[in-house]
Amino acid sequence: MARRHLFEWEDQPWLPVALRDGATDYLRFMIELGDAYGAASPILADAMRRSRATRITDLCSGGGGPWRRLTRGLERNGVAGDLVLTDRFPNLRAAAALEPPLRWRVAYHPESVDARAVPAELAGFRTMFSAFHHFAPADARKVLADAVAARIPIGVFEATRSDASAILAILPIPFLVLLTMPFVRPFRWSSIALTYLLPLLPLLVLWDGFVSCLRTYTVAELRALVAEVPGSDGYTWDIGEAKGKGPLPLTYLVGVPKLTA
Ligand SMILES: C[S@@+](CC[C@H](N)C(=O)[O-])C[C@H]1O[C@@H](n2cnc3c(N)ncnc32)[C@H](O)[C@@H]1O
Repeated sequence: MARRHLFEWEDQPWLPVALRDGATDYLRFMIELGDAYGAASPILADAMRRSRATRITDLCSGGGGPWRRLTRGLERNGVAGDLVLTDRFPNLRAAAALEPPLRWRVAYHPESVDARAVPAELAGFRTMFSAFHHFAPADARKVLADAVAARIPIGVFEATRSDASAILAILPIPFLVLLTMPFVRPFRWSSIALTYLLPLLPLLVLWDGFVSCLRTYTVAELRALVAEVPGSDGYTWDIGEAKGKGPLPLTYLVGVPKLTA
């Protein structure tokens, strides 16, 4: 299916914070429940070892995405360190729900961070989950070029995909939101009201999930993007699909600077 960059609610700066945080909390809850990024642990652990990274700067972190499980998965793969979550619209209460294992230190950067121009003080291995599709090709190249210009490794992972099976899988979302919202953490009365009194959250999550599938880059599209990033030949790129516990594979792109010495 050809990539289509349709409107997503989450991209709108005017979206009320109760809807934005309710949606990203819910996304984290579902990612955790389905272990959507279990297959990312060994890929990320290998890239961190190759680049000798012990600090991660997660971009577009929203409600924390897969990090509760991922810190444990990385630890099992022999990797631990510091994780800083960042977002253009930080969801600061989300960090508390991640309960990192002992060898990890996790913090949420309080200021807005745009993944296309990451401040130099956030020097860790850059990661991005369920978010690269938010960037149309010119901006997606900027995200990669910003990391390459700083000679910082980057890993991008997507659990959605632009095919009929993925779109079918998101159709039950409104019912799942109705069934599970009281169990989503952090607990927010605003999310309860926006699910049961004025059910905007189930509809928002369904629409953004559907559009996310249409926007997700294929392996071939990711390869084409990388080829157009200035300096990308100074990196080793690993781009592919990985099968986890779920029925659908995740798509990933990992770039590590080639050693010069
Ligand atoms: C679909 S959510 C994914 C959140 C999280 N990574 C997860 O896996 O649940 C996408 C996130 O990207 C953030 N975002 C969108 N554009 C951004 C940008 N230019 N820079 C940084 N964050 C951005 C949104 O605020 C939102 O929190």
